[in-house]
Formats: sequence, structure tokens, C-alpha cells
Amino acid sequence: MTAAKTIPESDAADAPFAFNEASLAEARRILAKYPEGRERSAVLPLLDLAQRQHGWISRGVVEAVAELAKTPPIRVWEVVTFYTMYNQGRIGRHHVQICTNVSCWLRGADEIVRAAREVFGVEFGQTTDDGTATVSEVECLGACVNAPMVQIDDDYHEDLDYESAKALFHAIRQGHAVQAGSWAKRQCSAPAGERSTLTADPTTPEGGKWIAADSPAAGASAGGAK
Ligand code: FES
Repeated sequence: MTAAKTIPESDAADAPFAFNEASLAEARRILAKYPEGRERSAVLPLLDLAQRQHGWISRGVVEAVAELAKTPPIRVWEVVTFYTMYNQGRIGRHHVQICTNVSCWLRGADEIVRAAREVFGVEFGQTTDDGTATVSEVECLGACVNAPMVQIDDDYHEDLDYESAKALFHAIRQGHAVQAGSWAKRQCSAPAGERSTLTADPTTPEGGKWIAADSPAAGASAGGAK
């Protein structure tokens, strides 16, 4: 087990920040999407851009974004504290976000949390002592149909169970590349196993029967029964 390292609260106060050349060019591209006088609308993508450069949102980031967005820093800070995707403290090289909301919980999120505790040795909100990963608990990430799932950095890992989650977390811990998507190998959100409905090719007479002109279905699809 690894000793946990919590995120120091004081970090949020003082880290300086300046957009680098590449980020500044991207910031200008983002700002160009908005009319003059509406730069404040770009706060979310600018914060995301800054976080990708800096890793988290310090006071310096807030001030730099506020300047570009021509808005008071407090307006930017309000956004930072509303959305959980903005890190208000330093995080590890990887951000492991475990969804424990209803669908994931019903499908075994507790086992994913157990796997994370065993592999990373930390609790939610903590970073491993080698700085590899920060583990967070998050609300629904919109991939319920492939629950339980975990977001690591920008990628979703879905259809996990205790064993696959352990394999995934070990790979992250050891610095190996991991494939995003379903760990049950299903295609996107297609049913697991064989298809049980819509099995005929809709472009063939067999598959097209249900929309024959004289069928009730055709009447319904044309605007209801006559
Ligand atoms: S409940 Fe986990 S993705 Fe929706």
C-alpha cells in the first residue's frame, strides 16, 4: 500500500501562471468565436486550455483567464467552483475519476472503488505518493449504458468489474498505455452478446417487411391510423 498524499489547500492560492505561446494561440482562436464584448463566454474553454497546460486551476490561472475574457476574476472563480472538471489543487499525472452514481453503483461501482483503493492505496481526493494518480469520486458521467465506468484523463473505460478495473489501474500505475472504451469488448453501446432485435438487414425485402405500404406500421409512421 502507498501512503496517501492529500492536496494541500494552500496550493490553490499562489501558483503563478502565464499562457505559453501555443496556449495563447489557441486562446486567441477560441476568443475569435465570440463577438467583441462577449469574451466572457469563452471562460469555460479558456479554463480548460489553462488546466491542460498547468494541470490545475491556481489563482494565477484565474487571473490570466479573467484578463483574456475581460471579466473580473471572481466571475471566473465562480465557474471554477461550480464545475467539478476543474481541479482546484495539484493532481497526479493521471486523474482517475470513478463514477459512483446510481447506474454505476447498481452495476458494481463499489468493486471499482475497492480495486482503486487496493492498487493506488489512496482514498478519494488523494494522490499517490509517487504522483502517478489522483483518485476522485464523480457523479454521473453520462455513460450509464456501459456502467460501471471510470474516466481517466480524457478517456472513458467502461463495462468494468473488479478484475478488469484492477488490471486497468495496475497498467496506469506502471505507466502502460491503456485502450479506452468497453472492457467487455462490446461495440459502443451495442447489446452485449448477439443481437436479439432488428436482426434482418433493413435494405432487403425481408428486413423491410415491417414498413410495407399496407402495414399498420406504415400508417403509424406516416402520421397515425386512418
Ligand atoms: S451513473 Fe455512472 S455514468 Fe451514469
